[in-house]
Amino acid sequence: MTFRPNIAAASPQAINAAAAALRRGDLVSFPTETVYGLGADATSDQAIAAIFEVKNRPSFNPLIVHVAAFDQAREIVIFDERALKLAEAFWPGSLTLVAPRAPGCKVSLLASAGLDTLAVRSPDHPVAHDLLCAARLPIAAPSANISGKISPTTAEHVASDLAGRIDHILDGGPCRVGIESTVVKTTPQGAVLLRPGGVTQTEIEQVLGERLLKPVVNVANPDAPGQLTSHYAPSLPVRLGATEVASTEALLAFGPPLVGAARTLNLSTSSDLREAAANLFAMMRALDDPALSAIAVMAVPQTGLGRAINDRLRRAASK
Ligand code: TXA
Ligand code: MG
Repeated sequence: MTFRPNIAAASPQAINAAAAALRRGDLVSFPTETVYGLGADATSDQAIAAIFEVKNRPSFNPLIVHVAAFDQAREIVIFDERALKLAEAFWPGSLTLVAPRAPGCKVSLLASAGLDTLAVRSPDHPVAHDLLCAARLPIAAPSANISGKISPTTAEHVASDLAGRIDHILDGGPCRVGIESTVVKTTPQGAVLLRPGGVTQTEIEQVLGERLLKPVVNVANPDAPGQLTSHYAPSLPVRLGATEVASTEALLAFGPPLVGAARTLNLSTSSDLREAAANLFAMMRALDDPALSAIAVMAVPQTGLGRAINDRLRRAASK
């Protein structure tokens, strides 16, 4: 028998065990019709931070939140008329819809890289569907590969990339579609194609009865032309590498905090990078108080998840 690390055939028992693991905050790789996902409880900042750590991503990208069915999506995002039409026509399926967060949405801000919108899809795969139903959670999942490698379409691909980094891989056979979902953002002006994928532009335009719009190229970010999302930035100036802090400033601390700030939040008093990543977006928002002069940020080490945290902080500081 060949040795298959971490891989479990997607039996009902294995799916229930994987759902329990997700509810505990563990990561689970699971099949969808497009590619294998690296899933985590979308409502847990810590579990989402673990995704970025395992994928070894140098920056935080907003992730797709997977739901069992349309009703679950409606609890976390607000669908306009175009999004409703598209969900009705293509769900479950390989179309991801980007829409504003619903009031009271419990999905982690880290999952959407601090954005006010969320990407949502209902995958058309029996294992993904059963897992989502058993977990009773929205599941955030990027493709289950190390950053920079190609997306996995079999459980073996996932294991060869991530074995030793994750404990659970559900094997549902090869993915039928084999390329990622199409990502469409609906706006009052029309629907914007953010990423081509499993559902074609023509199919979408037929359902909408109008052309898809091209995304506006993000001029603030000429170094990353592939990056089509504008990221959340605080309205206050952000001052990095702070070694002292003024009484008019908010302090985003890391480790033992500087003293003297008007208000201090600590990414991690114990200098734990996963905890810091989990807190980053929520704390930046909480400190963005127009009554203050700036957000002073203490240095975060440029190792592991620290690279993604610093990437995000630099973007916030250079806007
Ligand atoms: O087929 C797929 O979509 C696979 C399977 C696992 O479902 N998932 C996937 O996820 O490809 P990921 O994280 O590799 O791609 C997410 C895409 C990125 O292009 C990201 O920029 C976009 O969705 N995205 C996510 N949230 C967004 C948002 N709020 N606004 C704009 N784009 C967003
Ligand atoms: Mg990917």
